[in-house]
Amino acid sequence: MKPFLKTSLFAIFIMSAANVASAAETVAVKMPKELSAQAKWGQIAFDQNCAACHGDKAAGTEQGPPLIHDTYNPGHHGDESFYRAVSSGVQQHHWPYGNMPAQPQVKPELAGMIIKFIREVQSENGIVYKPHMMQ
Ligand code: HEC
Repeated sequence: MKPFLKTSLFAIFIMSAANVASAAETVAVKMPKELSAQAKWGQIAFDQNCAACHGDKAAGTEQGPPLIHDTYNPGHHGDESFYRAVSSGVQQHHWPYGNMPAQPQVKPELAGMIIKFIREVQSENGIVYKPHMMQ
């Protein structure tokens, strides 16, 4: 088999494996031209404490979901749910990645800056407040 073909087949195999697990979802994230001062600090803290699972710019990885995602719009996951995720962790419920461990090293003030960062990037990507409907 030609090496090129082998590589393409392998890529297709990987892609279908990911589909079967219906897991890892990553998104393309557009960054705002400018972040507020608080959000800039938030991004640094996010990179240090959250990006390993939630990805660069919160675009998602194999270990955690993208937070730049309609599921996390401020109407569905208000700021309290972010503070709670950081202080107490999250039981797996929306995704197939497992639980999120608490991140107690991130104090509420810093968590607030991380939330600011995420909200500003969400808004740049059209993810805005939608009232939460029970389904
Ligand atoms: C070890 C991996 C990991 C780290 C580190 C991590 N998370 Fe998570 N996080 C997850 C996973 C996995 C989920 C999805 C749980 C589910 O809904 O199935 C999640 C879910 C969330 C949610 C959704 C909460 C909800 O109520 O559904 C928020 C908000 C969140 N994370 C924020 C953060 C922030 C902010 C940080 C950094 C301070 C962080 N996470 C660090 C893995 C991680």
